[in-house]
Amino acid sequence: MTLQSPAKLMPWFLLASVVLFILMLGGIAQDSQQPWKSYQRDYIRRKKNSAQTPAEQRAVDHFRMGIRQIEVPELGRVDRCTTCHLAMNHPDKMDADPPLRRHPQIGPHSFEEFGCTVCHRGNGLATSVEAAHGLTPDAASPLLPTKFVNASCLACHNLNALPGVQNLKTGRQLFENNGCLTCHALNGTGGQIGPALDGIGQRREWDWFIRHFKDPASVSPGSAMPPVQLADADLELLTLYVLSFVDPVSDPYFTSKWILPNPQSGRELYFSRGCIGCHQLDNIGGSLGPDLSQLGLRGKAARLRYVLEYTLPGASMPHPDLRPDEREALIAFLLDLNQP
Ligand code: HEC
Ligand code: HEC
Ligand code: HEC
Ligand code: HEC
Ligand code: HEC
Repeated sequence: MTLQSPAKLMPWFLLASVVLFILMLGGIAQDSQQPWKSYQRDYIRRKKNSAQTPAEQRAVDHFRMGIRQIEVPELGRVDRCTTCHLAMNHPDKMDADPPLRRHPQIGPHSFEEFGCTVCHRGNGLATSVEAAHGLTPDAASPLLPTKFVNASCLACHNLNALPGVQNLKTGRQLFENNGCLTCHALNGTGGQIGPALDGIGQRREWDWFIRHFKDPASVSPGSAMPPVQLADADLELLTLYVLSFVDPVSDPYFTSKWILPNPQSGRELYFSRGCIGCHQLDNIGGSLGPDLSQLGLRGKAARLRYVLEYTLPGASMPHPDLRPDEREALIAFLLDLNQP
């Protein structure tokens, strides 16, 4: 290879610059076609048309195009859905379809605090419809169809304490009336013939459940589970309820709604958390620890709270590892036992 004079290289430099320029133009054109930009432009256009006062007009002029996101660090989520879904809290209806339609009010939750994916699933960081809604065949977290969104409420709420959500309550009735617990365990109670169903709502998709309920052997070859004899609408409600078997979120603020601090939910915990294995109640249970019905604990909530949070000095009782709401429910239960 020989060294060439700068003059001879000139045409190559020129060619390279032209190619670079064309690539750049292509890049700009592609960027302006980012799908979210078209929704933001549509939003600006609608706002412009409906702006009536100078203040509203100024608000439109100050709208900055760009990616928007809601961060919910307690739940490990960053949701960019509002990049396209811009009208969540919009005061008027805008007469638009999603993503520019105002969101229905669900309880007191604010979108700034909760984001979107905690209820809808989907992929929070993505900024194209396909990726955000998880429409590609192997997407990690497809959007739940709207009719199944209520399944997510139970990651934070106790169904007994949640007003509304009639579809979930009907789903639970179907679950209870169709013998599911004779073969399956849930929260530590039920049969052993089929696998335990805890957490199953986050391991399978809704369409898998429907297919499986109609004909278990078609998706689990050789399955010993009989087909569920229900009409399609009821199968969807059963699926909704089974989809709600997800691990509760772990942040104490968000789960503050999970367990009601009343004796009934405390009683359930007393059995499901194994207290009964070491403590007797009415002569039932283990005897490693003291009989709690005999302790005369009335009025001693503070002591109970201490025992359940830290255990006693030199204690042989294992640390119970309870969330605050669970602790309060157990205390309500134990104090109730000791009422005269
Ligand atoms: C790139 C723009 C864009 C992003 C990002 C986006 N969406 Fe959408 N979304 C749309 C459009 C467009 C529609 C209406 C058409 C459709 O359903 O595809 C829609 C519809 C929806 C619907 C209604 C579906 C129905 O069946 O009625 C829900 C729910 C939804 N989006 C949730 C989300 C969530 C949650 C996220 C974030 C994880 C998100 N979207 C991110 C553009 C977007
Ligand atoms: C507390 C749970 C919850 C949160 C958080 C939530 N949604 Fe929803 N969303 C729902 C429920 C429930 C529905 C169905 C309401 C109905 O059918 O009446 C719904 C409906 C929708 C729809 C369809 C509305 C329509 O008009 O058809 C869209 C789109 C949507 N949500 C997007 C979002 C986006 C984007 C976010 C985040 C900014 C979000 N949601 C946050 C529970 C939630
Ligand atoms: C990530 C956790 C979380 C999810 C998911 C969630 N909620 Fe909530 N919800 C809360 C918290 C926390 C409060 C209390 C908020 C407050 O007081 O400001 C609440 C309050 C409520 C309330 C007011 C009554 C009460 O018990 O305080 C209603 C109603 C409600 N939620 C309904 C729903 C519905 C319906 C869904 C599902 C579509 C849902 N929530 C999903 C955490 C959640
Ligand atoms: C006669 C016993 C029996 C009854 C009753 C029964 N199942 Fe099953 N179920 C099984 C067996 C065995 C399996 C494992 C094989 C399979 O996946 O089909 C199973 C699997 C499942 C799975 C998949 C679990 C996984 O880990 O993949 C779900 C979900 C399920 N059953 C839900 C239900 C529901 C809901 C009901 C009530 C409508 C029900 N089952 C009634 C025996 C039963
Ligand atoms: C492995 C056995 C074991 C389990 C499981 C266990 N405990 Fe205990 N518990 C003990 C023993 C032993 C003591 C006596 C003090 C000590 O050594 O810690 C005790 C003491 C206590 C006390 C204090 C009684 C007093 O002296 O005032 C309370 C309250 C209590 N347990 C409640 C519970 C609850 C509620 C659970 C379930 C979340 C539970 N325990 C689970 C063994 C157990």
